[in-house]
Amino acid sequence: MYEKMNIQWFPGHMTKAQRMIEENLKMVDAVCELLDARIPRASRNPDIDRLAGDKPRLIILNRIDLADPAITARWKRYYEAKGFAVLETDAKSGKGVGGFAPAVRRLLAEKLRDYESKGQVGRTLRVMILGIPNVGKSTFINKVAGRKAAIAGDRPGVTRGKQWINIDSGLDLLDTPGILWPRFDSQEVGEMLAITNAIKADVLDKETLGANFMLRLREMYPKAIEERYKFAPDPDMNGFELLEQAAKKRGFLVSKGEYDIERMANTLLGEYHEGKLGRLSLEAPND
Ligand code: G4P
Repeated sequence: MYEKMNIQWFPGHMTKAQRMIEENLKMVDAVCELLDARIPRASRNPDIDRLAGDKPRLIILNRIDLADPAITARWKRYYEAKGFAVLETDAKSGKGVGGFAPAVRRLLAEKLRDYESKGQVGRTLRVMILGIPNVGKSTFINKVAGRKAAIAGDRPGVTRGKQWINIDSGLDLLDTPGILWPRFDSQEVGEMLAITNAIKADVLDKETLGANFMLRLREMYPKAIEERYKFAPDPDMNGFELLEQAAKKRGFLVSKGEYDIERMANTLLGEYHEGKLGRLSLEAPND
């Protein structure tokens, strides 16, 4: 079904991230992971479970504004069943972010009581924030802190210095060990990361990416193609033919009878990024 693509891999970043997490873990009470709600599995580094050891864990399903609400609800139940505290957020607008501090306090209620019984009343809780580049960590932290605390808009591969961000009198966030590289363990994972802009799509062949995305859409959300591009996707067409069909509908003509598939691929990916295709998740939990 899928055409071959080249996916760039940066093993050095991964080792560095792991070391930073290990070094800083002893200083925090809990570990909070940000995931892209459209691809919670693909945007989650499976090594986290080993790295985080037995620290209490919170999962933030971010970008809920772009994800299918019914599928996000299933992911929430899925991770809760595994023992994580789970919060749904749209860090860009701030939706759900207000639930963060209370969720941390609930998660660490026992620890707080412990501290209090040792006479450490009002001790600050420290939370490490993790997530792959571009998942929304800076935006989330800024919203939680209610001011411009972290620098948003960092591009993949840019490492920042470690910083503690004070949220309120009882809560500090550790931003940075944060830069956790995604794991492209399969072609499919790499593709989902590229479609959602977690990795730079221009290291990939855009046309192939667009064509494969069309196939995914036809499988999961055929109505989205119909509504946005005004044609019912033919089950016998390949991804490039679907792109061509959309290009025709859009009038992306290059010469007589020839349509601009590359432009259509860029348009499709751009419109998904902007949420113009609707709220579409790319993977669902096996529940
Ligand atoms: P990072 O620290 O994890 O690397 O990510 P960062 O906060 O820089 O966020 C990356 C981009 O994702 C930012 O957009 C940010 O506005 C956007 N973003 C973060 N959270 C959400 C969310 O919940 N919903 C939506 N729709 N967007 C979110 P940017 O750099 O301005 O670029 P663009 O992605 O908007 O083009």
